[in-house]
Amino acid sequence: MGELIKISNLSKSFADTKVLQSLDMRVNSGEVVAIIGPSGSGKSTLVRCIAGLEPVSGDEILLDGEAVVNTASTHGKVGMVFQNFNLFPHFTVGENIIKPLKTVLKMKVDIATEKAKTLLDKVHILDKFDQYPNSLSGGQKQRLAIARALAMEPEIIIFDEPTSSLDPKLAHEVFETISDLAKEGQTMLIVTHQINAIRRFATRVVFLNKGKIEVEGTPDYIFNQADNQILQQFLKQVDFADI
Ligand SMILES: Nc1ncnc2c1ncn2[C@@H]1O[C@H](COP(=O)(O)OP(=O)(O)OP(=O)(O)O)[C@@H](O)[C@H]1O
Ligand SMILES: [Mg+2]
Repeated sequence: MGELIKISNLSKSFADTKVLQSLDMRVNSGEVVAIIGPSGSGKSTLVRCIAGLEPVSGDEILLDGEAVVNTASTHGKVGMVFQNFNLFPHFTVGENIIKPLKTVLKMKVDIATEKAKTLLDKVHILDKFDQYPNSLSGGQKQRLAIARALAMEPEIIIFDEPTSSLDPKLAHEVFETISDLAKEGQTMLIVTHQINAIRRFATRVVFLNKGKIEVEGTPDYIFNQADNQILQQFLKQVDFADI
């Protein structure tokens, strides 16, 4: 499997706060990497840098061998799914997928409509095609956000706490969808604290602490690091809910 993301010596500060410190990380195509770590450890900043949403200077992040500097440089390669869905409230469920396909990919409306239907079927909300997002449950909204990200056929999908505003049942639905994508070999980066979900589908876990990778490895490896006090301290606080 080829290397999709190569991060070398990435540092990022906001005013006087050092948020990421000389961070190195690689992601191969087909990997599903979970990013965990205390609040403020830099998880969102890291994934935002990878998506081009934070300015980075050029040689620190390569995506498919090309420098990430801004959103234009990741356009079409990275799909982002956020905690708060970021749907278009004034478009129907179908239009939330069709409109970007038309405007961004210049797709013809009938082809875009077919594609939207296929994707909505895949995330089990095809019956909501003509409804508006505010009539969906939180889990359905998030699955629509995933379908919309998939529509662009990104090389990688990045999730930043996709289920933290959802109750366990709805979170379970979203993780089922993510799990299906993992089986299909979709490369994904997921910031989440749902440890049991991570065990189900992550190929690797990265534990971030104070802007650095403290330890990384398979879920089995990471969740059996009894001697790592910093990790143990963190794991005591997180959610082991069975979802
Ligand atoms: N735009 C910004 N301006 C100033 N400071 C910021 C900005 N974005 C993040 N920070 C700071 O950077 C640090 C890391 O934030 P980040 O959001 O990456 O953490 P996180 O690990 O995602 O935390 P959480 O688990 O709470 O989401 C924090 O101290 C935060 O206050
Ligand atoms: Mg965050």
